[in-house]
Amino acid sequence: MNDHVPLKKLHIKTYGCQMNVYDSERMIDILRPLGYEVSDKAEGADLVLLNTCHIREKAAEKVYSEIGRLREMREEKEARGEGRMTIAVAGCVAQAEGKEIMNRAPAVDLVVGPQAYHQLPELIARTHRSKGERLSADFAPEAKFDALTVDRTVSGPTAFLTVQEGCDKFCTFCVVPYTRGAEWSRPLASILDEARALADKGVREVTLLGQNVNAYNGLNADGTQSTLARLMYALADIPGIDRLRYTTSHPNDMGQDLIDAHRDLPAVMPYLHLPVQSGSDKILRAMNRKHGRQSYFDLIDRIKAARPDLALSGDFIVGFPGETDKDFEDTLDLIRQVGYASAFSFKYSPRPGTPAAAMPGQVSDAVADERLQILQALIIEQQQAFKENLVGRTLDVLFEKRGRLEGQAIGRSPYLQSVYVDGAVNLIGQIHPVKIIANGNNSLRGALLTETVEA
Ligand code: 5AD
Ligand code: SF4
Repeated sequence: MNDHVPLKKLHIKTYGCQMNVYDSERMIDILRPLGYEVSDKAEGADLVLLNTCHIREKAAEKVYSEIGRLREMREEKEARGEGRMTIAVAGCVAQAEGKEIMNRAPAVDLVVGPQAYHQLPELIARTHRSKGERLSADFAPEAKFDALTVDRTVSGPTAFLTVQEGCDKFCTFCVVPYTRGAEWSRPLASILDEARALADKGVREVTLLGQNVNAYNGLNADGTQSTLARLMYALADIPGIDRLRYTTSHPNDMGQDLIDAHRDLPAVMPYLHLPVQSGSDKILRAMNRKHGRQSYFDLIDRIKAARPDLALSGDFIVGFPGETDKDFEDTLDLIRQVGYASAFSFKYSPRPGTPAAAMPGQVSDAVADERLQILQALIIEQQQAFKENLVGRTLDVLFEKRGRLEGQAIGRSPYLQSVYVDGAVNLIGQIHPVKIIANGNNSLRGALLTETVEA
């Protein structure tokens, strides 16, 4: 960094999905050369960036209350004579409601949509001259990724890597096709470059991100296209990259070569996030999921035939318009039949501009709340059962950080549970077989099977 640039404090608050986590990291990387250093609190920051999520109403509303809090902090900062706090809103709320934000929250200096992050330095400079910049750009991710392929800062042996953005599926409840635009894949070479740079910095596990990551079809140098499976074969060839994950997938894009990759490529972790949303054919149709209950079961059978030890996670929505007790029962039944290692579940939230928001048969909050509780209890039961089953088994653990106690190290199993071991030193960044000896609430306790050498 240029020694003459005075340091400025940047605080980023990230909402929503892992894609936003990735974007926030990249925004930090492009702002660092301008003299911004990250501060973990908003108070006293020179620039506060809210990287927002629009997927459910609650997520979007949080942004407005946060802006109110920031406005007060800004006044206090100015009163202390510490200069102005610039408030910027990024992410999907910025894209979807850019104009409304400016009207509803005049404290906001800058609104920037997900495809325009590479223009942040210029936008920030402009807000310092004239207030009220808004750039919720069109969907042209190429320019963004070209500009963002700068030196990445890594923290630990795992990293996210966005390979695909946008969605063409148009599930009737979802804002993503509107906020993130059409499906678009990064060219293969640019992903491999980024992955090689990550491996050079000690990253051993890469999670490939995309709203519809298994629809990946990036261009190769010769103009042909690569599927996600091809991309993963190329990534697995990079020395140092030992583990690959990908999220989020749509059942209809689970091509045979991707299923085969789960069988043939040891780097692909036996854990798959494959949302189904509902177990009722009627609701799946109304959601425009473009697949049925039975085809989901059949797909899972095929994936498990390729990789019998594969564990599943999913997303579920309860209280979708028209959902009856019977439809909800079908969802519970699907969950019982599949058996999930973990899952996310949500109460349906009508989103402006989506077809489902105008559908008849909106379900009352009370009913949706009750269904959510029942569904979540079932998932927790399955999650605990899954973890309990791991006790006594030996799993490879990638160690990520030290634990709270002296000599403790914490890592992740292939199935994403936190595993901690005692009496371990300098294991960070290494993969070791660990015998699981106990199931805790949020983690597993294990014992190392290999002798580790103190460095
Ligand atoms: N209401 C509730 N949940 C939603 N999701 C997407 N849109 C909505 C909505 N309008 C959930 C889906 C999706 C996850 C990322 O968020 O389950 O898979
Ligand atoms: Fe939304 Fe459906 Fe696309 Fe997922 S597949 S991002 S739920 S529209």
